[in-house]
Amino acid sequence: MQLRIDSIDFSYGKNEILKKVYLELKETQLMGILGPNGSGKTTMLRCINGILTPQQGSIVLDEKELKDMPRSEVAKNIGYVPQNSSSDLCSPTVYEVVLMGRKPHITWQFSDRDKDIVWEAMEEMDVKDLASQRFDRLSSGQTQRVLMARAIAQEAHVLLLDEPTSNLDVKYQIEVMDRIHRLVHKNNISGCAVIHDLDLAMRFCDKAVLLNKGNIVAAGDVWDVITPENIKKVYDMDIAIPDIYGRPRVVVL
Ligand SMILES: Nc1ncnc2c1ncn2[C@@H]1O[C@H](COP(=O)(O)OP(=O)(O)OP(=O)(O)O)[C@@H](O)[C@H]1O
Ligand SMILES: [Mg+2]
Repeated sequence: MQLRIDSIDFSYGKNEILKKVYLELKETQLMGILGPNGSGKTTMLRCINGILTPQQGSIVLDEKELKDMPRSEVAKNIGYVPQNSSSDLCSPTVYEVVLMGRKPHITWQFSDRDKDIVWEAMEEMDVKDLASQRFDRLSSGQTQRVLMARAIAQEAHVLLLDEPTSNLDVKYQIEVMDRIHRLVHKNNISGCAVIHDLDLAMRFCDKAVLLNKGNIVAAGDVWDVITPENIKKVYDMDIAIPDIYGRPRVVVL
């Protein structure tokens, strides 16, 4: 499924947050959304998910405008893991939270196939052992992995992840990004992940956009976006990208 954002503007009241933002994302591409705090990354994902409606411009999924799609169709096509989240159910188990990912697909009850998909998604995010635990008693990193499993179980064609690694330990940061990358490529879906860690973005993303104060400063192959010049311009910070053990690494100087 192809996602195209055509010159969207979004304001909260008089406060202009996104200005002429554009983006094009094809299947089997993982895009990193980069930019300083407050630059509009979450706002952009919320527009793509249809939670917010831009005042100008259009968001198009496979030639269909998002604003013309029923909410149920959006839910089938777009999976969203928010930056900060709590469950809207009362004290559900981890299994029940992941099962909710199947909701857009069911008519009146969950099938055996739905349940298989849920277990596979939990396995993918390494949360099977937590299945019977209460969701509201998990650590932040466990919560993040469970919500990712829910989005995987949803089998959406576009996966939006807002800072998927922010609460994860160093091992899971690599593992989860690696799984997201593989999932996008294996299942022919499109992924958009907000990431602050430039090295992780460089390692796992195919494409990137760099936002600053609601404007796109650079967009394209991750290589062309994460450059010392662009990072200096946006963060006023010096980086180098040396090869270490045969792989480019982003090093803050
Ligand atoms: N509900 C809201 N009402 C009014 N202003 C908001 C609202 N949500 C966010 N903003 C403002 O919009 C701007 C962009 O916020 P957004 O959450 O999109 O930033 P971000 O790039 O995701 O930042 P971070 O890296 O800190 O998560 C900020 O100035 C923020 O204060
Ligand atoms: Mg944010």
